[in-house]
Amino acid sequence: MQIVSIIDIYEDKIEINDKIVICGWIKNKRISKLGFSFLDIYDGSTCDPMQIIANNTLSNYTNILQLTVGCSVIVHGTLILSKGNKQKYEVVSQNIKITGWIDQPDTYPISNKKHSLEFLRTMTHLRSRTNLIGVITRIRHCVMQSLHLFLDQKKYYWIPTPIITGIDAEGTGKMFRLSTFDFNKIPKNQDGSVNFKKDFFGKESFLTVSGQLTLESYACSLSKVYTFGPTFRAENSNTSRHLAEFWMLEVEQSFSNLTNIIFLAESILKYVVNIVLKNCFHEINFLSQYIDQKIKNRLENFLIQDFTNIDYIDVIDILLKSKEKFQEKVFFGIDLFSEHEKYIVSYFNNKPVIIKNYPKELKAFYMKLNDDGNTVAAVDILLPGIGEIIGGSEREDRIDFLKNRLKELGLNDQDYWWYLDLRRYGTVPHSGFGLGFERLIAYITGLSNVRDLIPFPRTVKNFQF
Ligand code: 4AD
Ligand code: MG
Repeated sequence: MQIVSIIDIYEDKIEINDKIVICGWIKNKRISKLGFSFLDIYDGSTCDPMQIIANNTLSNYTNILQLTVGCSVIVHGTLILSKGNKQKYEVVSQNIKITGWIDQPDTYPISNKKHSLEFLRTMTHLRSRTNLIGVITRIRHCVMQSLHLFLDQKKYYWIPTPIITGIDAEGTGKMFRLSTFDFNKIPKNQDGSVNFKKDFFGKESFLTVSGQLTLESYACSLSKVYTFGPTFRAENSNTSRHLAEFWMLEVEQSFSNLTNIIFLAESILKYVVNIVLKNCFHEINFLSQYIDQKIKNRLENFLIQDFTNIDYIDVIDILLKSKEKFQEKVFFGIDLFSEHEKYIVSYFNNKPVIIKNYPKELKAFYMKLNDDGNTVAAVDILLPGIGEIIGGSEREDRIDFLKNRLKELGLNDQDYWWYLDLRRYGTVPHSGFGLGFERLIAYITGLSNVRDLIPFPRTVKNFQF
């Protein structure tokens, strides 16, 4: 007998009267006085459970009567069309093997009642048993697969850029240090400074904030590349949009400019949303019941909306002219706060907004200086309800400009010798961007806190396991 996923039954891939095996957990149990019981089983493949009929002729029927929510079972049975009108199918069991009981069912945290997201955040090892986290997980999977698929079809190559690094790619100093030193006996040099030569790598090392710089080395040979992995930021930002460990898709392309990568970014976002609408039908239905009634409309509209395209300087102009009372004073040179981003998105009728050409002081050293000498060819893409989801730029491909910028920022160009080599040997105009994966899932699902959108969130003063 074949083990089937419940989703395969709902997608009509299994024939009526087929003998099948379903492995899963009890969602619900109802005992009928007519000599049988109904068990609702879930296996994580879809939100709707499968109804199992357990007759009192089963040899372990008295044990089956003791099953509670969360117990695990292996059911051998026959698929039939349901006689009830609540579900299309049911399975008449010939054998039910009980593989796991619930210890003290009265205190089982994931009972069938509704749990708040806050409570579930304290139970990250069990929360994937809820319908909501199951739905998010399947959407997350679909989005990740479709990003790879899109880029593969367009002949971008996947480069696994290193997670352990010596470079501060964004130049913000917000990196997690990596060391095998015993904190009680840190080796020192004669002048009292730490002797990193004695550490694992023989020099300072960190978890990467972005794979971009090493990705650029591959873009300067394979032309179209991307990296997709976890990135780490030791920012003290305790907001619903910030994680200390998050996933980022970064795309890098030679012989391309800002316009090219903005087009690419918009195409990727629309492609992914389209796939989710097509492939995550059950999940979207579930979210429209419990999270965002208008989710389907919202996503369908996203596919046909033009993104607004505007320069940073014009954004400042709009903010200065608005009657809104902002907490943070607006001026040319301000790094936009979430309140400003929200205002700008609503100003443009809640459509996605592309903001370009930021003052160089606001952006990282690698961004290409515009001819005005003050702004860089940078881009941020904002989505309604989320704010910045994508950040990117043209890269400074002129070695003298790049060296100048490093100097201005007090960075040592010796540390970037290999990055400068990319400009020294056959430099090319190139551009790229980074897409925050959890923020994209937030936009798609309508859930607002990224802590619910990564399985085990890590944030300031907070991580489990
Ligand atoms: O704008 P960021 O910092 O850009 C870079 O890291 C560039 N190196 C990308 C590139 O050009 N290759 O980050 C890119 C995106 C942001 O727009 C945001 O969506 C997400 O990553 N992001 C975060 N997501 C969750 N938690 C955080 N702490 C994040 N920081 C950035
Ligand atoms: Mg950014």
